[in-house]
Amino acid sequence: MAVQIEHLYKAYEERKGEMFYILNDVNLDIASGEFICILGKSGCGKSTLLNLLAGYLKPDKGCIKTDGREVTGPGADRGVVFQQHALFPWLTVRKNIEFGLKLKREKRAGEIAWEYIKMVGLEDYKDAYPIGLSGGMAQRVGIARALANEPEVLLMDEPLGALDALTRDSMRREIERIWKLTNKTIVFITHSVPEAVYLADRVILLDQGRVTMDQRIELERPRDIISECFVKYVQQFESAITGTDANAVITE
Ligand SMILES: Nc1ncnc2c1ncn2[C@@H]1O[C@H](COP(=O)(O)OP(=O)(O)OP(=O)(O)O)[C@@H](O)[C@H]1O
Ligand SMILES: [Mg+2]
Repeated sequence: MAVQIEHLYKAYEERKGEMFYILNDVNLDIASGEFICILGKSGCGKSTLLNLLAGYLKPDKGCIKTDGREVTGPGADRGVVFQQHALFPWLTVRKNIEFGLKLKREKRAGEIAWEYIKMVGLEDYKDAYPIGLSGGMAQRVGIARALANEPEVLLMDEPLGALDALTRDSMRREIERIWKLTNKTIVFITHSVPEAVYLADRVILLDQGRVTMDQRIELERPRDIISECFVKYVQQFESAITGTDANAVITE
């Protein structure tokens, strides 16, 4: 499903008697099936943008459309995965994934949940409780739960941010695999420039609530993170974010 963001403004408060816009005339066209990564310094408005896309917040000006229809609130066409997994601790993996389906009185809830448990490779943990899962596993459950509702767009706010480096690496590959398998449109927020270059068809850079860069990543997948071209992209974004000379930047 395609997403259009048109002249989007969002403020939380007034400053000196004027609205202080956290998002300032954001315009973005996302094609169906595209993998978009959003990069930017802390506080630049990434989560605000994601929450607007999810329908948890309302724009002050402008609008967001999915498949030509204006977003007016949360909807089953958009699934959300946060940095902290937000699983129900009193439910098993399987029940967590079935939860939304049962709310919708989906007769095939068990079957669908099982399909996504297999997709994220947690067959052996289907009866485990969240407390017994590692961070990476819990995020897999979160992803499976979002996918089980069969949204067309997956919105992810730093889903790998709380994971250790090794788990993070393997989860990147996992997310790429799931994206290819399901053809979802993905909007993925990250602080990690290499992660964005690894995953994205297009990287969007936000700076003080404005889109300052919209760059397609022209690299074959799976991407080789030590190739010269990969490192060049990383340096380009690092220097755009920090405003320094690319050669002076040390990357992850
Ligand atoms: N509910 C709120 N009320 C008032 N100000 C808010 C609220 N939520 C966010 N802000 C402010 O809006 C700005 C953008 O916040 P946002 O959470 O979108 O940034 P971010 O890019 O996601 O940052 P981070 O990388 O740290 O997650 C920040 O200055 C933040 O303090
Ligand atoms: Mg954020």
